[in-house]
Amino acid sequence: MAIPSNPRVGLVGWRGMVGSVLMQRMAAEGDFAHIEPVFFSTSNAGGALPATIAGYAKNERSLLAASDLKALAACDVILTCQGSDFTKQAYPALRAAGWKGFWIDAAKTLRMNDDAVIVLDPVNMPVVKDALARGVRDYVGGNCTVSCMLMGVGALFKADLVEWMTATTYQAASGGGAQHMRELLMQMGTLHASVSSLLDDPASAILEIDRLVAERQRALTPEETKNFMVPLAGSLIPWIDVDRDDGTSLEEWKGSVETNKILGRGPGFGCEATPIDSICVRVGAMRCHSQSLTIKLKRDVPLADIEQMIAADNEWVRFVPNTREATIRELTPVAVTGTLQIPVGRVRKLTLGSTYLGAFTIGDQLLWGAAEPLRRMLRILLEQ
Ligand code: HSE
Repeated sequence: MAIPSNPRVGLVGWRGMVGSVLMQRMAAEGDFAHIEPVFFSTSNAGGALPATIAGYAKNERSLLAASDLKALAACDVILTCQGSDFTKQAYPALRAAGWKGFWIDAAKTLRMNDDAVIVLDPVNMPVVKDALARGVRDYVGGNCTVSCMLMGVGALFKADLVEWMTATTYQAASGGGAQHMRELLMQMGTLHASVSSLLDDPASAILEIDRLVAERQRALTPEETKNFMVPLAGSLIPWIDVDRDDGTSLEEWKGSVETNKILGRGPGFGCEATPIDSICVRVGAMRCHSQSLTIKLKRDVPLADIEQMIAADNEWVRFVPNTREATIRELTPVAVTGTLQIPVGRVRKLTLGSTYLGAFTIGDQLLWGAAEPLRRMLRILLEQ
């Protein structure tokens, strides 16, 4: 089911954080040259295109209303980072009206639908191709933690080497949204300000500084902790997203079901799901999600072979030697942020036994974790 050349691509949610990164990436990769972009707005329909995106437009020079079903239905592809509320409202209405276009979405709303594919083509191109051949029209970006993890160690799943896996995540503030990043920085500044004169004095007592910081952290107001609900600066929060009332968080549930769905595993695919469990933790990083993995291998594969498989899996993965120097230079959120690189390091056989593997991986959750799989899906459609 091909789409016309120079298709009308409706872009919704291009102003937000993920949407802005998406626009930057689409511009950098020349994606706009192959499409007729149509920019939708929930707040300024009829308005002129803002300078940030005006240069990408061709014939459509003003913003269309994101609530205008007819305008949406005139698109061959809709690419949305607008979030769940828009998807819940627009998607069923469009399909009910008989719209047959391709829907590419960052939101979680449709992800687990039987007729939606979670896209991460360097990992699951066969699943995507199979879906296209079957006429599937809904393509959804995965949870950021899952996508970044699979970009790093997907090779081991592809080789069917994973009996089970556990992850402990170290997730950045950006996963919560732009306001969360601002809140983290404000808290950092507040804490620093509370002890700055003592810090300036080399003779001051560190335990006094520590006491004052803890006192200030505990005194942060509801306004100062509006987004994370509790202090994050100088602390961490071992719970992400809603409580599923079974001892797990929604983020942890996604780690299991989405990984299997991306890989085309589980009952829906006529095979066993790979058991995956995790504890998801918010830390004071800006936009890179990190994960410490324990992987139970199905068989004892030599470490050198595992390293080689990981390193050769895709052009973005970077194998980091398991040394102190390489790790502290290359395997940190600061080293990765703003890049498409997915370093994988700390790879070693655990003392638990030769089929137990440890690894640590990092990804920019706005790039591979959100925007990149979406724009690549658009290119896959264009190249059909
Ligand atoms: N849910 C993720 C987080 C981000 O809170 O870090 C989006 O997948």
